Amino acid sequence: MHIEWIDAVVARGLSAAGCTLAAVDALAVTCRPGLIGSLLVGVSYAKGLALATGKPLVAVDHIRAHVYSPHMERDIGYPYIALLLSGGHTLVIDVQGLDRWEVLGATVDDACGEAFDKVAKHFDIGFPGGVAIQRLAERGDPEAYRFPVPSLRNARSRFDVSYSGRQQFRVARSGPERVADIAASFQKTAIDIVVNQAIAAARSRGRHRIVAAGGVAANRYLRHRLAAEPEFETFFPSLALCTDNAAMIAGLGYHVLHRDGPTELSFGAAARVAGFRRVS
Ligand code: KG4
Ligand code: ZN
Repeated sequence: MHIEWIDAVVARGLSAAGCTLAAVDALAVTCRPGLIGSLLVGVSYAKGLALATGKPLVAVDHIRAHVYSPHMERDIGYPYIALLLSGGHTLVIDVQGLDRWEVLGATVDDACGEAFDKVAKHFDIGFPGGVAIQRLAERGDPEAYRFPVPSLRNARSRFDVSYSGRQQFRVARSGPERVADIAASFQKTAIDIVVNQAIAAARSRGRHRIVAAGGVAANRYLRHRLAAEPEFETFFPSLALCTDNAAMIAGLGYHVLHRDGPTELSFGAAARVAGFRRVS
C-alpha cells in the first residue's frame, strides 16, 4: 500500500507547498526508527528520486526530528531537558546541542503514546487513542479513579518510567464506571508520570528549560501541566508538528546537510535504534 501511495503523497506535498520538484534544492528522508515496511518504501523512493534528479539526499532519524521540531518555530537555547513522547518512544533527554544528547531516562516497557492507545482500545474509546482519550477526559473527573503508578523494579535509572499497559489499568474496568472519568484519571496518571520525571531531571541537571515533543506533546493536559511550572521555561511544537510529519524531517535534514553533507546512498532503514540507550 505504501508503494501505491507514495507518488501521490509526494505530489500532494509539493502542490500544498506551492512548489515543484525542480525548485527543491535537497531531499530528506526518514531512515529510522519506525515500521520497517514504510521506512523501506520511503528510503527506496527517496534514493530513486535523488539518483534521477541529481539532488543531494540526507537520511534523518525521526526521533531526533521530533526533538528538533519546536526549533522550527521558536528560538530555543541549549541546554534543555527534552521529553520525547511518541507511540514508540518515551525518553527524558539532556539536550546540549543539535547532536549532543544524554538520555537520562526511558520507559522500561510500553511507550507513553502506546499506553494511551492500549487503554483506548481496551475501553473501546476510539482511535487514535491519545486524541480519543483527551476528548473524553475533558468531560471526566481526573480524581475519580486511582490508577496505580506502575512499579519501577526493572528501572536502570531514577528517571525511568513504566507503563505496564493494559494489565496495569484493568483494575479500573470493573464496576459501573464512567468512561469519561476513566479517561481523565488515566490521562492524569500517564502524563504526571513523565512530567514529574522531566522536572526531576531538569532539577538534577540544573536546566531551566523543558521541551516536550512527539505525538503525545499534542496533549492539552500535558501542555497545561508543564506550562504551569513557574520554575521552567517550557516549549512545545505547534499541534501540526507534534505527530509524525515531513516538515520536521526536512527541517532537521537542512541542518544535517549543511553540517555533514549528503548521506552516502548505501544507507539503510532501521526499525529500531540503539543510540537512544541511556548514558548513566
Ligand atoms: O510521534 P507520533 O505521531 O508517532 C510515533 O512516532 O509513534 O506519536 C503517535 C502517538 C500515538 O500513540 C497517539 O495516541 C499519541 O501520539 N497522541 C496523543 C495525542 N495525540 C497523539 N496522546 C495523547 N494526547 C494527544 N492529544
Ligand atoms: Zn513520531
